[in-house]
Amino acid sequence: METTFKIPPSIKIETFPSYEALSQAVAGRVAAQIKAKPDSVLGLPTGNTPLGTYKELSLLSKPEAKENFVDWSKARCFALDDYIDVDERFSFHAFLVDKIYRHTNLSGSQSFYPGLTDDYDHLIEETGGLDLTLLGIGNNGHIAFNEPGTCPASWTHCTWLDESTRQANKAAFEGNTPPTRAVTMGLATILSSRKIILIVSGEKKKTILEKALCQPVSRDVPASLLQMHQRVEVLTDFAVSCAV
Ligand code: GLP
Repeated sequence: METTFKIPPSIKIETFPSYEALSQAVAGRVAAQIKAKPDSVLGLPTGNTPLGTYKELSLLSKPEAKENFVDWSKARCFALDDYIDVDERFSFHAFLVDKIYRHTNLSGSQSFYPGLTDDYDHLIEETGGLDLTLLGIGNNGHIAFNEPGTCPASWTHCTWLDESTRQANKAAFEGNTPPTRAVTMGLATILSSRKIILIVSGEKKKTILEKALCQPVSRDVPASLLQMHQRVEVLTDFAVSCAV
């Protein structure tokens, strides 16, 4: 008997005509979140995918943005993950400072990193919990650095990186060997976020995204765990379908 699997109604998919439009939409949602709740707690990713979002948000964080100005002075930002034993210039800490934080009025004491904090999950909880977490997806279905096989009940932990992940991220290391280990929010940490936006750009991510959304939840595809969350938005710049 043929079985068809439908995307859970808790997952809202929106497709935009270009990467720029996608990035503007994500930035608009982050801006709206901070406007509605100035002391919002955000979970923020690295990678190529959110670069456009950060560029848009950087523009909105300048006084010239006037009535659209995003005021980060009360917000708290938690990096999703970082490498272990990496030259600081290649760290996700440096990435987030360079791509977004330095363009905003977020103070250094309001940005947090899993490699620099003993009990990251406790700290997240103490701040009131994640209001909004942005995610990208890896080619193998990872979210943050939760590689295939990660326990769905995992909190922030250290992990070994898949060889495919190391190869995918190699270009950022300017010829140096990519690290083998990382520290990452766990799947339970991510799923504890009140809202989640998964940003996916480029047809090359279509197959893995459809696997994550259109097939039953499996620890082999960590992003499929998002099906278990009540408020997920998936924003893409290509059409997604679960046609069988
Ligand atoms: C990484 C990060 C993820 C990111 C993913 C995809 O290694 N740990 O948070 O979502 O890779 O990266 P990209 O957006 O460059 O495809």
